[in-house]
Amino acid sequence: MAKKFLQTPQGMPDILPKEQIFFERVLAVVKDFAHFYGFKKIDTPILEFTELFEKGIGYSSDIVEKEMYTFETRGGDSLTLRPEGTAPIARVYLQHGMQNLPQPLKLYYWGSFFRHERPQEGRYRQFHQFGFEVLGEQSPAIDAQVVQLSYRILEALKIKPLTILINSIGCNLCRPYFKKVLKNYYNARAGQICPDCKKRLKKNPLRVLDCKEEKCQQVKNQAPKIIDHLCEECKNHFREVLEFLDEVHLPYILDHYLVRGLDYYTRTVFEIVPVDVSDFGKGKEFEAGSQATLVGGGRYDDLIKLFSRKEVPAMGSAGGIERIIKEMKLGGERLPHSKGPAIFLAQLGDLGKRKSLKLFEDFQKAKILVAESFGRDSIKSQLKIADKLRVKYTLILGQKEALDGTIILREMESGRQEIMKLDKVVDMMKKRLKR
Ligand code: HAM
Repeated sequence: MAKKFLQTPQGMPDILPKEQIFFERVLAVVKDFAHFYGFKKIDTPILEFTELFEKGIGYSSDIVEKEMYTFETRGGDSLTLRPEGTAPIARVYLQHGMQNLPQPLKLYYWGSFFRHERPQEGRYRQFHQFGFEVLGEQSPAIDAQVVQLSYRILEALKIKPLTILINSIGCNLCRPYFKKVLKNYYNARAGQICPDCKKRLKKNPLRVLDCKEEKCQQVKNQAPKIIDHLCEECKNHFREVLEFLDEVHLPYILDHYLVRGLDYYTRTVFEIVPVDVSDFGKGKEFEAGSQATLVGGGRYDDLIKLFSRKEVPAMGSAGGIERIIKEMKLGGERLPHSKGPAIFLAQLGDLGKRKSLKLFEDFQKAKILVAESFGRDSIKSQLKIADKLRVKYTLILGQKEALDGTIILREMESGRQEIMKLDKVVDMMKKRLKR
């Protein structure tokens, strides 16, 4: 067995060079869409004060209760590796006085996030997300736009099929009453639910709808639906969101028990899953919140108020990049590997090596990719590498050529060689590569 310290920590995989092309593709598409939809990029630190997440995500959420990487610094502060990106954005908004900028403020980000979960396929302890947040606007058009943007990104990455699961969890006016109704329903069935749900019922009754235990699922199937208890404003808001989605022909399913695992949500919540919309209702339903959910998000109108008493309605979403890449691969997406260099630069002798270093820089300035092996001295071993790299041309700069101000060009396939002027070689090669 390999020594433990020579392994990555559990659930924190390396992203090897062969995987990078998929990450680059996802990020390129995200960047493109973000730009088009008017989002500005933001980076926040990997660490934040623990209290930000405790208050923002909610003390009774799974993330805060059992999944955070928290430690005390030498200075005595409690910091946490960010488990998600929305609470940090709320902090950014307040810390930098962004309410004074034109609203709505649209920000996007990507990076590593950390949750101490049970690692399994699609569920890691270090994973990557991209996220979109719109702050300072309460129109349902924004909810629809965030859903649309998230969906279109997955579509552009050629992920098929896709379905949006959507629900409204009301506001602080209508939700407290629904919580009571839900509590009464579950209390009457206390013998049929798991011990965790009994605790959830006391701390935050909505969380029982998130439980994955088989017996709790059965109880959930008959549970009261929040949609029947929404206030007029929440009902109208949700209706308009759905009308906007209809307008742009997005395939959604009303998931009456979708509540999402973070406490900051109000009104719209949604998830996008890789399932055909026509498969719902045929026993092939997809479990919301499971490890195949690609994007999740919703409205969080009360989050900033929680920190500052400022009323700043907001809406956002985040996508799990590893899960998205898995789906891209399942769909047979094979991305072309970036093209390797067409030229190999071989050198011989001290002067040849020195001039090669300079020539290599000239090629770099001309943006022509050139491979080299300056560490090797024998021409034979350098040509072997050139062969392996399958370059079209090798340039050979030996002692004699360096003195003459020339260089040998070898066409690898035919073995034909010619002599060129050293100070003209970059231009000449540029022309040849265009042929
Ligand atoms: P979330 O649902 O916790 O929401 O995460 C968003 C997405 O990140 C998930 O749908 C999933 O694709 C991915 N993800 C989450 N946990 C893991 C994991 N352990 N391993 C791999 N992928 C994972 C949020 O984080 C909210 N901040 C989204 C949001 C933004 N809501 C409003 N604005």
